[in-house]
Amino acid sequence: MSLRFRLLIAAAGIVVVSLVLSGALTWVLVRNLEFDDAHLQLDRLALLRRAEVLRAECLTIPSGTTTTCPGGNGRLASRAAYEDRLRNLAVASGADRMLLVAANRTIVFDSAGSDSIGTKIVLGAQRKIDQGTVNEGNVVISGQDFIGAGVAIAPRRDPDGAAGLVFARTVASINSLATGQVVPRLLGAGLAALLLALAIALLLSRAFARPLSELAGAAEEIAAGNYAARVGVTGRDEIGVVGRSFNRMAEAVERARATQRDFLANVSHELKTPLTSLLGFSQALIDGSLQTPAERTRAGTIIHEEAHRVLRMSQELLDLARVESGQISLHPTDVDLKALLEQEIEIVKPRAGERQLALDLRLPTSPPHVKSDPERLHQIIDNLLDNAVKYAPAGTPVEVAVANGLMNVEVAVSNQVDQNPPDPQRIFDRFYRGDPSRSSAAGGVGLGLAISRELAVALGGKLWAELDGQVLRVRLNLPSI
Ligand SMILES: Nc1ncnc2c1ncn2[C@@H]1O[C@H](COP(=O)(O)OP(=O)(O)OP(=O)(O)O)[C@@H](O)[C@H]1O
Ligand SMILES: [Mg+2]
Repeated sequence: MSLRFRLLIAAAGIVVVSLVLSGALTWVLVRNLEFDDAHLQLDRLALLRRAEVLRAECLTIPSGTTTTCPGGNGRLASRAAYEDRLRNLAVASGADRMLLVAANRTIVFDSAGSDSIGTKIVLGAQRKIDQGTVNEGNVVISGQDFIGAGVAIAPRRDPDGAAGLVFARTVASINSLATGQVVPRLLGAGLAALLLALAIALLLSRAFARPLSELAGAAEEIAAGNYAARVGVTGRDEIGVVGRSFNRMAEAVERARATQRDFLANVSHELKTPLTSLLGFSQALIDGSLQTPAERTRAGTIIHEEAHRVLRMSQELLDLARVESGQISLHPTDVDLKALLEQEIEIVKPRAGERQLALDLRLPTSPPHVKSDPERLHQIIDNLLDNAVKYAPAGTPVEVAVANGLMNVEVAVSNQVDQNPPDPQRIFDRFYRGDPSRSSAAGGVGLGLAISRELAVALGGKLWAELDGQVLRVRLNLPSI
């Protein structure tokens, strides 16, 4: 089922449910009002028609006016004529029934026929209105529900001893009056509301469907390999949030693809250089073009160094892949950083001496301890010191400073750089070399810092670099005990 169709159904459902509820409530209210109104009308009817009912007993004199029956000179009409007049009165009154009841509350006259004659009806409480006092209530006549209003009368001749006059209306007629009032208006309003709701739902569904289909289209494009696909859905609502997230995700995918492409290109390029010289020098050895033993020794040395470089690169690539995919196993323990750094400095000292670099270790007053994997930590520090010793200009100082933080310990390796300093943000990129000729000469592949950063993250720390004038400071932050 499409989103649009579901929205339309939902809108129609809401309209129908709210119409039914409000319609039922309105109907009950209108019906109550109609009942109140009908009661009042019947009350007035009973009071107003009482005199006419009494006069119906008397014959009319030719001039058309009735005699005053009481007092003896009026003549009473025959019973048939009396009942005829009563029926005419009932019709003229507009009530459904007009009844005369005896003092014992049995019906003695019914304008609708003789079915109910002899049955008993009981009206309820008395009510005072402007014109007098009336008894009103619900009654059942011939099995039908009525509301009625009755007043006391005292006819002169009534053979059945009528003592009360009752006007009644069927409950059904009042209900249908209320229904007639409410239903047509409700249907009209309902139809208008339904059309309006459907129009709004249609507009809304379009507003929803357009960005969603745009998102789906862009996702398909990315799946097909067009990583530059983006969406223009950038509103402030939830769909806008999804649109922006989608664009960010697409950018990340594009970046990851580009990095992967660059990485592969870099790997093949980096392999090509040593492999070319391996091929060239080994070929020269084979075809005997190198005549002197010195030439052959030089070729052998280059072959050895280049082979070593290829091996080192494959080891570093393997390392990087392992750290990235989380395949390295870490065994964090309490590491005494002072001892570890002193040992590392001992290792690089001969190389630093060759380049007249002054190594300086600065430790805080309280001994620094970190929770880390000693093997991996050694790998990071080794790379940082190796870089400093390799790239610092000859005869400059190299400083290793340790500082205790609240929750961590920081190791900063600082050394001077030459006129072409490396980019401190990019030195962590794979195969980045600030000065390729120099790095290659030093046997560098450009992967050491990339691996170190991944390792630092795996150890729960971070690794970054800052260039402060002519000093490059590489900082390692590690969680303390
Ligand atoms: N302490 C430093 N001083 C100056 N330049 C540095 C320093 N550390 C890194 N660099 C620059 O950043 C580049 C990348 O360093 P990285 O350690 O990743 O690779 P590398 O040393 O060239 O090779 P390897 O993979 O053998 O470590 C270096 O080639 C160098 O140009
Ligand atoms: Mg390095």
